[in-house]
Amino acid sequence: MSTINYSDKIPNNVNLSEDRTLQRALEHWQPNYLQWWQDMGPDGSQNFDVYLRTAVSVDPQGWAQFGHVKMPDYRWGIFLNAAEQDRKIHFGDNIGEAAWQDVPGEHRANLRRIIVTQGDTEPASVEQQRHLGLTAPSQYDLRNLFQVNVEEGRHLWAMVYLLHKYFGRDGREEAEALLERNSGNADNPRILEAFNEKTPDWLSFFMFTYFTDRDGKFQLCALAESAFDPLARTTKFMLTEEAHHMFVGESGVGRVIQRTVDAMNQLKTDDTAKLRAAGVIDLPTIQRYINFHFSVTIDLFGADQSSNAATFYSSGLKGRYEEGKRVDDHILIGNTYKVLEVVNGQLIEKEVPMLNALNEVLRDDYITDSKGGVDRWNRIIEKAGIPFKLTVPHKAFHRNIGSLAGIKVSPDGKVINDHEWNQHVEQWLPSDEDRAYVGSLMGRVTENGKFANWIAPPVMGINRQPVDFEYVRFN
Ligand SMILES: [Fe+2]
Ligand SMILES: [Fe+2]
Repeated sequence: MSTINYSDKIPNNVNLSEDRTLQRALEHWQPNYLQWWQDMGPDGSQNFDVYLRTAVSVDPQGWAQFGHVKMPDYRWGIFLNAAEQDRKIHFGDNIGEAAWQDVPGEHRANLRRIIVTQGDTEPASVEQQRHLGLTAPSQYDLRNLFQVNVEEGRHLWAMVYLLHKYFGRDGREEAEALLERNSGNADNPRILEAFNEKTPDWLSFFMFTYFTDRDGKFQLCALAESAFDPLARTTKFMLTEEAHHMFVGESGVGRVIQRTVDAMNQLKTDDTAKLRAAGVIDLPTIQRYINFHFSVTIDLFGADQSSNAATFYSSGLKGRYEEGKRVDDHILIGNTYKVLEVVNGQLIEKEVPMLNALNEVLRDDYITDSKGGVDRWNRIIEKAGIPFKLTVPHKAFHRNIGSLAGIKVSPDGKVINDHEWNQHVEQWLPSDEDRAYVGSLMGRVTENGKFANWIAPPVMGINRQPVDFEYVRFN
């Protein structure tokens, strides 16, 4: 696979110059994108030189280049993984047939909807995070925020490329609309609820990149199985970038915890008031942030029973996580899966046709994966000799989608009444006071190698650079 030509207006590995119409359409969209970046992208950062990685090929051995870049000059490009020869559809009703290089008419509306929904999350997260640069706890963290932001911008490009190339006029209209909806906008919000929430502080940002970017990973993995080959190839390359986003979240929360347990040991206390007086974030507050971000994120997988999910699978549009590694027939007719419902005030499991429960299948795979990082956070606490364990809440806790929507369930999975909920909710979800406290800690640290008091430095720098490297030149 060749290296990308950066003298092109739009760097790409899809031979854009051979398709003049498409190239013109994308070049027409590009200034609108840049305008959106100016208006809705990172606040007050246009003049910074940031040590960023830029995708320069899709070769797993060296796909990225690192160097200081002014962010508006970042080269957002279009990159698809190399085509697999004679790729076959490997699940659903058309199993064994050749993968599609174009969009079959009967699946056009569903595929467009899938691509638009995925595409909408990418700029949404940039909008949600746009003020965070003003309160970055270090240059290292500021650089990581901007890296995530420019790559979410590139993911939007990835989806817009598909819309323009394969969906004609409707696709172009959808591409415009992706720049018109805005996170949290009352009149024209982003499509999915979690992408209209605020990301008001850096603890929220780390939780978001750990939990919600991981939702992105699972959605992209499911789309990487798609019978629509260009979608599979583009999402595969997006996954390469996504790993760093989740690393930013996992290591970020880990460093907050490290700083907290160090302070707990120094001060020999687990008293919240004393720890807050020392300017660190107490573990129960971290638990409440986990409860919030986990519950909001698992809603993103959709209703536990969904005929759309069945259609998307059977028609080959969207597979399961690691479809190729599973040992069943990949058609799933007659298979069942357990979903939760409430009967007589109790959560019970109910067997339903698996095809209808594929959102739940993906959600459960996600839950297993997200527990891994929480275990690693617990090791930091254990190592410090502190008897405290973080957990993810029960999957019925604080849900807003599917059969569990609106049912009051405690984090340990007991169905409770409104009164009990109201009594305990401040122990379970971040209170206004928690958010105000965390917010009060935020303030920009700009000096090389210096870190805000509430977070420990990372163990290593980016791309083997030292931790005190000049990751951002503020100019
Ligand atoms: Fe993304
Ligand atoms: Fe991401």
